[in-house]
Amino acid sequence: MATKILLENIEAPGLATFDCYRKLGGYASVEKALKSLSPDSITQEVLKSGLRGRGGAGFPTGMKWNFIDKKSDKPHYFICNFDESEPGTFKDRHIGQLNPHQLIEGMILGSYALGARSAYIYIRGELFYVLNIIEKAIDEAYQKGFLGENIMGSGYSLDLYCQPGGGAYICGEETALIESLEGKRGNPRIKPPFPALVGLYNCPTVVNNVETIANLPWIINHGADAYAALGTLKSKGTKLISACGHINKPGIYEIELGLPVEEFIYSDEYCGGIRNGNQLKAVVAGGSSVPILPAELILKTAKGEPRLLSYESLEEGGFQTGTMLGSGGFIVMDHTACIVKNLLTFARFYHHESCGQCSPCREGTGWMEKILRRIEAGKGSMKEIDLLADIAKHIDGTTICPLGDAAAWPVSSAIRHFRSEFEEHIIQQKCPFTK
Ligand SMILES: Cc1cc2nc3c(=O)[nH]c(=O)nc-3n(C[C@H](O)[C@H](O)[C@H](O)COP(=O)(O)O)c2cc1C
Repeated sequence: MATKILLENIEAPGLATFDCYRKLGGYASVEKALKSLSPDSITQEVLKSGLRGRGGAGFPTGMKWNFIDKKSDKPHYFICNFDESEPGTFKDRHIGQLNPHQLIEGMILGSYALGARSAYIYIRGELFYVLNIIEKAIDEAYQKGFLGENIMGSGYSLDLYCQPGGGAYICGEETALIESLEGKRGNPRIKPPFPALVGLYNCPTVVNNVETIANLPWIINHGADAYAALGTLKSKGTKLISACGHINKPGIYEIELGLPVEEFIYSDEYCGGIRNGNQLKAVVAGGSSVPILPAELILKTAKGEPRLLSYESLEEGGFQTGTMLGSGGFIVMDHTACIVKNLLTFARFYHHESCGQCSPCREGTGWMEKILRRIEAGKGSMKEIDLLADIAKHIDGTTICPLGDAAAWPVSSAIRHFRSEFEEHIIQQKCPFTK
């Protein structure tokens, strides 16, 4: 049986209450840390574990913590990014709803390691029902002495606040999140300086994803070596994958990193195969922002090796034949799916969500949506396929934040792998998938 770090007790009735969580061993890592570990040794343990950020970029968590300006006499802040708005990604809300104390426990560990006295959970505004659950759990943690003044007589004090998000996808980008938390419009900041030096209220700040933070108690309880023993060379531990689309068993699965994609899609333990025995056509493996891959390239790399659910295996082949693990939103399409129509849905989303600061993204996302709308309706021209690819190319890498890239990559990859489908829309002057 594969090791579970995030979903181990997820079905325990009442897990969201302090008493149940505590009975199952909850908050042991906080006791251990505050009694016997220095903040620096926690950072070193996280570094050694090989944990990489689960928000999408996969940046090593311990390394990010080490960037914090320790000499600064300004307050330090630790922020949990619970904005979770990426289409196809629905894993963080599962932790928040069913196991909020594991997140709080991780927040205490991270805050202690970073020397933060105030920490924030910035949660997507639409998830008000999850926010209520987390706030209740925070109240309990205060009552039981795990938050507030002088936690367990250790001399360490921490206040934890839950802040509803600003209602925009861009507020999940860490610097936009910080702006929003400060009460401003959620526009991304130019980096550098990075938040570790100039973050919330211009103070040293670390922003981590919910899943990243929920891993911390296990790492402190079991040790970095035990965590690093799970997964592959560059992808340690487990990962939550939210699987949706044309599969028999959509849901949220915790996999050990390195699981073959084929096993994930077809085994009964996970997705249970394609619906109605249909053929697999394409997969968007890491949330809507990553390149789409056709069946043959998601199951095997261009070198013919089995494709694994790991950072390095999914990236194998670069953007020509590979993709990214991203945030773990695994969208499966069978042979009845229209790639152009799906792409139009994504393009509409990114156009709507562009904050408008950078011209390539503000204008380009709108142009891409407009052209895709025409092609999808069978009213486009062959030249427009190249125009679309050209716009995507000129957005990629030219914006303050990666929302522009996120809008461009699905477009360029869909044209790269499914060009004939765009052409078919133009030749038939209608969507070939519509009866
Ligand atoms: C447009 C956009 C939206 C994002 N949304 C989220 C989000 O909802 N949750 C998240 O954890 N990271 C999101 N990110 C990534 C964050 O900027 C940041 O890298 C992440 O919170 C860092 O946490 P990690 O190191 O634990 O992954 C987003 C990035 C972009 C560009």
